[in-house]
Amino acid sequence: MRSKTLKIGVLASGSGTNLQSIIDRIEEGTLQAEIACVISNNVGAFALERARRHNIPSVYLDHRLFSGRSAYDAALVETLLDHQVELVVLAGFMRILTPVIIDAFPMKIMNIHPALLPAFPGLHAQKQALDYGVKIAGCTVHFVDAGTDTGPIIIQAAVPVQEDDTEETLSARIQVEEHRIYPEAVRLFVEGRLRTDGRRVIVSGQPEYTSNSFANPSALYSLGDT
Ligand code: GAR
Repeated sequence: MRSKTLKIGVLASGSGTNLQSIIDRIEEGTLQAEIACVISNNVGAFALERARRHNIPSVYLDHRLFSGRSAYDAALVETLLDHQVELVVLAGFMRILTPVIIDAFPMKIMNIHPALLPAFPGLHAQKQALDYGVKIAGCTVHFVDAGTDTGPIIIQAAVPVQEDDTEETLSARIQVEEHRIYPEAVRLFVEGRLRTDGRRVIVSGQPEYTSNSFANPSALYSLGDT
C-alpha cells in the first residue's frame, strides 16, 4: 500500500453527485486520496459549487475560448499537471477527449457510464436500454481510451428494469450503484490493485466469489418445483 496520498483531478460538467460520492468516502476515511482540483467546462455546474463547499480548488475552463478540442485538452492537461494530478476521474464530463489528454495520462483516466458496456455507449444510455427492452441495466467504471466508452472495464453493477420504469426512475436506480462503485474503483487504483492485460483489468486481492447473481423477472421456480 502507498504511503503518499494520491492526488485526483475530477472533470465534471453537471450536478456532480459522483464527485460528491468520492468526496464523502475521502472525508469518512475509507478512501486514502486527495481531490487536488475539480475542473468544469460549464460555469453553472453544481460540481464546482460542491468543490468550493469542501475547500477543493475549482477551475472553470470555457471550451469556447479555445481553437479546438486539442487546444482545450492541452489546457486541461496543463491545469491537471499544475495540481500534480496522478489520476483523472471523469464524473459526468460531457466532452469527448482527444489523444492530447489520453496520452498524457495513459490508463490513468477513469469514466463512469450509466449502462452495462459494451451495450448502450454514448448519450442517453438509460433511454437506449429502456427502448431496447433489457431486463437488467446498470453502470460501468472503465479506463478511458481513444474510443467512446470503449476502454478496459474496472467495475460494473447491475440493477433490474421494472415494468413501469421511465428514463428518470431507471437513471435514479442506476445512480445509487454509480455512487457505490465509482469510489470503489478509485480505491482499487489508489491501493495499486489494478493492472491491465490487453482489454482485461485484473483486480488483485478480491474477496472470494460468493454467488449473488439475480434474474429479472426473478425466477419463481427452483429444481423439483415445476
Ligand atoms: C452520471 O449518471 C454518469 O453516469 C453520466 O452522467 C451522470 C453525471 O451525474 N455520464 C455519462 O453519461 C457519460 N457518458 P453527476 O454529475 O451527478 O455525477
